[in-house]
Amino acid sequence: MREIWKSARERIKGGCKVCPECNGVACAGWIPGMGGAGTGSSFKNNFKALAQRHLVMRVLHDANNPDCGLELWGRKFSMPVLAAPVGSIVWHLKGEFSDNAYMEQVLEGSAAAGVLATVGDTPDIDLFKSYLDQAGPRCSNLAPFMKPWAGDGAVRRLELAARAGCGICGMDVDSCSLPALRGTGAAVESLNGRKLAAVIDRAHQLGMKFIVKGVMSADEAVIAAEAGADGVVVSNHGGRALDHSRATIDALPEVAAAVGARCVVLMDGGLRTGTDVLKALALGAKATLICRPVMIAGCGAGAEGIAKFFNTVREDLLQVMQMTGCANLAAVSGRILG
Ligand SMILES: Cc1cc2nc3c(=O)[nH]c(=O)nc-3n(C[C@H](O)[C@H](O)[C@H](O)COP(=O)(O)O)c2cc1C
Repeated sequence: MREIWKSARERIKGGCKVCPECNGVACAGWIPGMGGAGTGSSFKNNFKALAQRHLVMRVLHDANNPDCGLELWGRKFSMPVLAAPVGSIVWHLKGEFSDNAYMEQVLEGSAAAGVLATVGDTPDIDLFKSYLDQAGPRCSNLAPFMKPWAGDGAVRRLELAARAGCGICGMDVDSCSLPALRGTGAAVESLNGRKLAAVIDRAHQLGMKFIVKGVMSADEAVIAAEAGADGVVVSNHGGRALDHSRATIDALPEVAAAVGARCVVLMDGGLRTGTDVLKALALGAKATLICRPVMIAGCGAGAEGIAKFFNTVREDLLQVMQMTGCANLAAVSGRILG
């Protein structure tokens, strides 16, 4: 991994310093770029709050060969981690990157590691369509996330995704006033429960599961669940949506308690290792997403770098599962945190 990071450092010309610890400090306010919004405090909070959770070691048990396989909506994945959606890598990372090339790396790297790939959205619906055309039959392992477009922008994208063969899609509802979109004329808006339900109903009519990404409180998780969401992601867009947001790991327990029995709870923000993933699972997440390190691994070594990164996370997860006495994901609970 050190070689991959070194290569990324050489290739990325701006937008990310490829720090040894991806914690939001050096890139605070870098948008375009990989940073958190404003002071960068939300990105930094995500990272810091995870570091402040501690594991209880347990070694007197039978969990010698843990199984971290995840079943989600009838599909099997190698671990409870997804590649997080990214919109416009070309704008955020100056240098030799293209959005279609990055999506290709994510698709291939995720498939090689046995995890679900995702792709983000921009105002350019033709770019969205080009992702689907490029993915072709591989759309079955690609979940496109669309923005909360005013008007029919979301439904048009849903129809394209369903036609292309995507079975899972989502919406980053926290993009309603995203600093990265402000000034671009992008017609995004805050969706109330009624508008959200209309989008989700259409996704269901088209045969797709729908994930609402960007929920940071129990009350909004309930709105999403009542609107029909199959999954909610506790996320603050990696600290890019709102400065001074609380950490995602701190919002996770109340969201899991409110809607965990009704829909799948996912979480992202600051997760870097299998140990971080296990902490999120212990606090109620069924699965997690990782963004910046996946981008860096892709910039450093393409699809192979992404697969290698995911496999490293998986190895770490298996090791910490054994060291905390968890034979499988069902055995993970708050008991492993001290
Ligand atoms: C450069 C960049 C672009 C992003 N674009 C999108 C996007 O288009 N849609 C989306 O849902 N999230 C987007 N995100 C947020 C990520 O999907 C994810 O929620 C967040 O970055 C997770 O935190 P982490 O990077 O600390 O792992 C983006 C994040 C970054 C850094």
